[in-house]
This record gives sequence, C-alpha cells and structure tokens, in this order.
Amino acid sequence: MKIRIRDASVADMAIITDIYRDSVENGLSTYELVAPSIDDMTSRFHGIAGQNYPYLVAEDESGKVLGYAYASPFRPRPAYRYMAENSVYVAPDTRGIGVGGTLLDALMSATADLGIRQMIAVIGGASPASIAVHEKAGFRHVGRMPASGFKFGKWLDTVLMQIELGEGADTIPAAEPGLKTYP
Ligand SMILES: CC(C)(COP(=O)(O)OP(=O)(O)OC[C@H]1O[C@@H](n2cnc3c(N)ncnc32)[C@H](O)[C@@H]1OP(=O)(O)O)[C@@H](O)C(=O)NCCC(=O)NCCS
Repeated sequence: MKIRIRDASVADMAIITDIYRDSVENGLSTYELVAPSIDDMTSRFHGIAGQNYPYLVAEDESGKVLGYAYASPFRPRPAYRYMAENSVYVAPDTRGIGVGGTLLDALMSATADLGIRQMIAVIGGASPASIAVHEKAGFRHVGRMPASGFKFGKWLDTVLMQIELGEGADTIPAAEPGLKTYP
C-alpha cells in the first residue's frame, strides 16, 4: 500500500476522534480514561496546529486516513521550547504495515524544520509496538517511570525515549523555534 503524508485539517477530526477512541477505550498507550469528543479533538487540534506544531495524517491512495501524528510542548515552562513530545496513532486495522513509522519519520522532519532540537516519546504502558516503532526510528531509551499509570486495574510503567533533531545539542540555536507562541 502506498502511504501519503499530509497536514491534517478540521475535516479529518471525525476519523481522528474514532482512531483515538480505540486507544483510550482499549489500549494502554494513552492514560486518558474517557474518550474525548470530536469538539475536544478539534479544539486540541487548533491549540497544536495554531502554535505551528506539525499535525499530520497518513492516508492511502483513495484518501482514507490510516493514522495521525503530532508534536506538542513536552512541558509548559519555556526553557523546554526546543523539545517537543510526539503522539502517533494508527487505526487498529492498518497497524503493522508501516503507517506508524512513516508518520514518525515525517513528524521528526517537520519538527526539526521548526528549529526544535529534541523529540521525546512518553510511552504509556511500556507498549511493545510503540517502543519498536521508536527504536526503529532511532530513539534511545532515556528512562522508565515504574507504576506511574493505573488503567484497566493494572499499574503501568511509562517508558521515555528521545532523539535529537537537526543539530541537536551540538550548537547553540541562533534563533527561537518557529512557534507562534510558547505557553
Ligand atoms: C505504536 C503504533 C503507532 C505503531 O504503528 P504501526 O503502523 O503499527 O507500526 P509500523 O508498521 O510502522 O512498524 C514499525 C516497526 O515497529 C514494529 N512493530 C510494530 N508493531 C509491533 C508490535 N506489536 N510488537 C513488536 N514490534 C512491532 C514493526 O515490526 C516495525 O519494525 P520492522 O519494520 O523492523 O518490522 C501503532 O501500533 C498504534 O497506533 N498503537 C496504538 C497507539 C500507540 O501506542 N501510539 C503510540 C503512543 S506513544
């Protein structure tokens, strides 16, 4: 299958809400317990894309959305502005065929283009699929927070993985990241 990556738009929010609902209700990768509505997801989209962070979708040749990925602030304090957190979600029926990896590569590239130097993945439930896709993309393990989540009656470890973007920490940035505002 040919996978195309493009910027997400408000028109994608219905399918994105459906894809995310599956992970909230059946998965351990997100620590949300109640699936957000399409209005919530649209408002989150505006908050992310409105700051200039990349918010991407993957689609097949017919234009069917297979998954989505976005970057967002890791933590709100401004000294973190050169680090972004990533989120990647693939529709359950199209996992394992390269969609997540393709989205992640495109997201790293678009985030690096903003002048952001580090990307972190906060991997709920130490999900093996998520760890695998990040390892393949070159992320390294930087930490594990034991029993930091509790979902479906189980304590969950959270795994932290990180990769340098662009010049990483080799140089001092000459400019601020290309974000509209930083919280
Ligand atoms: C994690 C997720 C995004 C991966 O996307 P995907 O499209 O299934 O992954 P890909 O097909 O691109 O696979 C990339 C690599 O990871 C490996 N991988 C994928 N799923 C795996 C699994 N369940 N166990 C072990 N390895 C796995 C693949 O084998 C592949 O490596 P390879 O090319 O060397 O074989 C997807 O499974 C998903 O949406 N899961 C639920 C939400 C989630 O966990 N998101 C991450 C939040 S941090």
